[in-house]
Amino acid sequence: MHSFQELIAQFEQQFSQWQFPGEPATLYEPAGYILGIGGKRIRPVLTLMGNELFDELHPDSFQVGNAIELFHNFSLIHDDIMDKAPLRRGMPTVHVKYNESTALLAGDVMLIYVYQFLNKVQQRYQQKLIAVFNKAAIEVCEGQQLDMDFEKKDPAQVQYADYVHMIGLKTSVLLASSLQLGAIIGGGSEGHQAHLYEFGKNIGIAFQIQDDYLDAFGDPEKFGKQVGGDILVNKKTFLLLKALEMCNGVQQQELRRLLTYTGHDKVDRTLQVFHDCKVDEWAQQEKERYTQQAFNHLEAIAVVSGRKKALLEVADFLLHRQH
Ligand code: IPE
Ligand code: IPE
Ligand code: MG
Ligand code: MG
Ligand code: MG
Repeated sequence: MHSFQELIAQFEQQFSQWQFPGEPATLYEPAGYILGIGGKRIRPVLTLMGNELFDELHPDSFQVGNAIELFHNFSLIHDDIMDKAPLRRGMPTVHVKYNESTALLAGDVMLIYVYQFLNKVQQRYQQKLIAVFNKAAIEVCEGQQLDMDFEKKDPAQVQYADYVHMIGLKTSVLLASSLQLGAIIGGGSEGHQAHLYEFGKNIGIAFQIQDDYLDAFGDPEKFGKQVGGDILVNKKTFLLLKALEMCNGVQQQELRRLLTYTGHDKVDRTLQVFHDCKVDEWAQQEKERYTQQAFNHLEAIAVVSGRKKALLEVADFLLHRQH
């Protein structure tokens, strides 16, 4: 059994040895750039943990981990275009540093490399792995589209349940399936795979709630992304939806006015109302609620508790992260 930190180090060590081809550098340098500027490597580590919950680490988990991390980075490059984001991991985003066409292509080629890695795993479970991965990848696209659809909608048309459904798709399913893929390699039963998937799904929802919280209230020095970016593009995050529910009439009017306001102080003014309505405190409770649901699923997995230690460590890290 390995700790969370040991698994990150092991994954990083082999992932950093892999490189894109040299030519054309105009395509592969931007692709290598995003991989080289950091990232927490949570998803591949979840695959390794899913494997180790049931059996010794298998080399196939590293191949799947590479695939998942490439898919994640592909989705980030395209997401930053959609979200008009200037910063990622404390550095300029790919479309800003290079250009949009290159960012699209660098993401596209990365997605093809995902399947090159998935092609390397043992035949006996390859079809199952690809089916689980494909389902998650399709759902990520669905979630991303819903996220953009919601930007255009009036907040009254987006319920909190719609937000949870959307973040479940755009974020949680990838965390959940990263774990399940590892469990398949480790030989976990279908029942155990399902509980591990639900553990990841619930942790993933709490993870995106934390992401949305940090997007508003994070420390710009630590966060690595533009603070207030979600406010600038009128994202229907829980912060806005819950503020509208919890605040008084005057504050509601102010929030609604700010949605069409484009002045330089749009972010500051919006944050002030979020703060006055105490939505930050509410986020804390909501993260805990989803974490508890996640832990209930983990408890239902009948392996010795020592094997679950790393998963508890990663859950704790994800929910308290500042970046
Ligand atoms: C960012 O994911 C995208 C979301 C789903 C919130 P991470 O926070 O895992 O990003 P990196 O890979 O560590 O930069
Ligand atoms: C990202 O959600 C989900 C995917 C990339 C699929 P966000 O748009 O909130 O992620 P960040 O904040 O840009 O990392
Ligand atoms: Mg986005
Ligand atoms: Mg984004
Ligand atoms: Mg975000």
